[in-house]
Amino acid sequence: MIRLFDRLAAPLLRALDPEQAHALALQALRLAPLRRPAPDDEKLAVAAFGLRFPNPVGLAAGFDKNAEVVDALLRLGFGFVEAGGVTPQPQPGNPRPRLFRLDADQAVINRLGLNSAGVEAVAARLAARARAGGIVGINIGANKDAVDRAADYVACIEALAAHVDFLTVNVSSPNTPGLRNLQQAAALDDLLARVVDARERAAENGARRPLLLKIAPDLTLGDLDDVVGIARRHRIDGMSVGNTTISRPKLREIAKATEQGGLSGRPLFPLSTRMLAETYVRAEGAFPLIGVGGIDSGAAAFAKIKAGASLVQLYSGLIFRGVGLVGTIKRELLDFLRVGRLDSLADAVGRDAAAVTAEPWPG
Ligand SMILES: Cc1cc2nc3c(=O)[nH]c(=O)nc-3n(C[C@H](O)[C@H](O)[C@H](O)COP(=O)(O)O)c2cc1C
Repeated sequence: MIRLFDRLAAPLLRALDPEQAHALALQALRLAPLRRPAPDDEKLAVAAFGLRFPNPVGLAAGFDKNAEVVDALLRLGFGFVEAGGVTPQPQPGNPRPRLFRLDADQAVINRLGLNSAGVEAVAARLAARARAGGIVGINIGANKDAVDRAADYVACIEALAAHVDFLTVNVSSPNTPGLRNLQQAAALDDLLARVVDARERAAENGARRPLLLKIAPDLTLGDLDDVVGIARRHRIDGMSVGNTTISRPKLREIAKATEQGGLSGRPLFPLSTRMLAETYVRAEGAFPLIGVGGIDSGAAAFAKIKAGASLVQLYSGLIFRGVGLVGTIKRELLDFLRVGRLDSLADAVGRDAAAVTAEPWPG
């Protein structure tokens, strides 16, 4: 079914405007009679944030912003799905066109601007499927016109904690003006104090959920020192490294490369993997990391794990490789374990982190 889906859908989706293609993909997932996938090999299981993931391959935030097809996505074989980003109030995001496919680079530029149906609609959907099983997290953000942005994250935690397995505090979307300033030391310290407090209050009602922090790959190493230090002080459960980049590594599609927004996909891999390794050496095992950015093969996923990721996520790779990519990555990861004579992925986490941080800075 998954292979058929890719064979029929891929050429059609590539012929369409990217945002129409995305809407059609969501619709297809809504209707597709996907069966429950075969159980994953035990060797792929990962324990992190107090959760047991059947495999380490997750869907990154932004694909299912409004949590409309979470269960269909789990049926594609993902070990976990991160829905969202969601904002407290519904908001339309930026004017179209705002999503660009750079086919020659296997990259995407987006400036969606956290378009969201709002927390109420998303909470209702997640509540309706909360007992369906599978690990589902939610990516939370702030409304564009919010005066007190930290209060928006708190509102999201209050509305959503009961219905998800983890929450990711997204301070790294490049398309909401000023949002990334929340990564600066004083603002981040205040934000994390307030979101951890909201999480503890939710815990009193029986919903103590892991809180993750998702950062931009564009931070300086000095900024990263602060961010990891503050995350450790507030006992954040993990970090996701990272979001799209506002930088423009060498791209072939020069006309589209100048579009404003965040770049994702294959050209993001070197920078995001370097930042992952830099985060790993600073975290010193205080919490696990999710490696995100440019994963489109088992080799790329395994490189993220060796650079310090306990879990990985992908989005853009699906656009160019189709949904069969999830199964391919899992098979290839098992091959890497066999060849390396490793019993589990945990044995490989961070093995190359120090070496990656010694390489020349990716250009
Ligand atoms: C169209 C699009 C929308 C996205 N929306 C979000 C979002 O709402 N919140 C977030 O934290 N990241 C968002 N992201 C970033 C992805 O979650 C991921 O971090 C990034 O795309 C790098 O992974 P990739 O190279 O596998 O796509 C979005 C990415 C894309 C392409």
